[in-house]
Amino acid sequence: MVNVLIKADKINKTYKLFAEEVKAVKDVDLEILQGEFIAIMGPSGSGKTTLLDILGCLDRVSSGKLQVLDNDVSVLKESSLVKIRRANIGFVFQEFLLIPTLTALENVELPLLFGKLPQDRNKAIKLLQMVGLGNRVNHLPKELSGGERQRVAIARALVTSPKILFADEPTGNLDTKSGQQIFDIFKELNQKDGLTIVLTTHNNKLGLQAKRIVYLKDGHIVSKEESSLYA
Ligand SMILES: Nc1ncnc2c1ncn2[C@@H]1O[C@H](COP(=O)(O)OP(=O)(O)O)[C@@H](O)[C@H]1O
Ligand SMILES: [Mg+2]
Repeated sequence: MVNVLIKADKINKTYKLFAEEVKAVKDVDLEILQGEFIAIMGPSGSGKTTLLDILGCLDRVSSGKLQVLDNDVSVLKESSLVKIRRANIGFVFQEFLLIPTLTALENVELPLLFGKLPQDRNKAIKLLQMVGLGNRVNHLPKELSGGERQRVAIARALVTSPKILFADEPTGNLDTKSGQQIFDIFKELNQKDGLTIVLTTHNNKLGLQAKRIVYLKDGHIVSKEESSLYA
């Protein structure tokens, strides 16, 4: 059975800056199904981050209807949004956003603490092993390379067993080789574990490796095609 995890109907996001209004997302319709691996692509300023933040319940729509795992989040207040996000969604960012004074392992365990979930050191270690960092668990972020830091961030995003993983330009700060390694981890998580992944990138070579590509231009979706690699 096809399982729709996210359904967006004519969603819009308008930022108000003093007297000026910026329409960052315009009339977006999108369904995200269980097991998808979507790359949101498009030029800088086309609304990729805004759309990802909205779909991932980090930000709210200005209008339109957004259902996330059967919750109509367009009408929810901030505290309910946080609950849904913590219970179901993992996030990875371009800047990694690790806590500099905590080890890799402690960084991975942190979302359990924030989510008031039982601490599970074994799970955190297993995730670090899964991303190839079994021998780096006690390193501080400054003792890791960029690619390694992003792997810690991926393990951290997965420790709460999210139903969807979102990643905003996850390879944007990485060299070509580390970027491909990060993408390989996403592909494996999607193919082996069936994890639903939605990411943004303006790297064509990487984006084309997703199963579906959603192109944005000026806040509009201009196409939602299956990647030719999977045709
Ligand atoms: N917090 C904000 N306040 C005002 N305008 C914003 C804000 N965030 C993004 N924008 C504007 O919204 C548009 C889309 O931005 P963004 O979603 O970051 O695009 P992308 O990720 O594709 O580069 C841009 O015109 C940007 O300047
Ligand atoms: Mg962006």
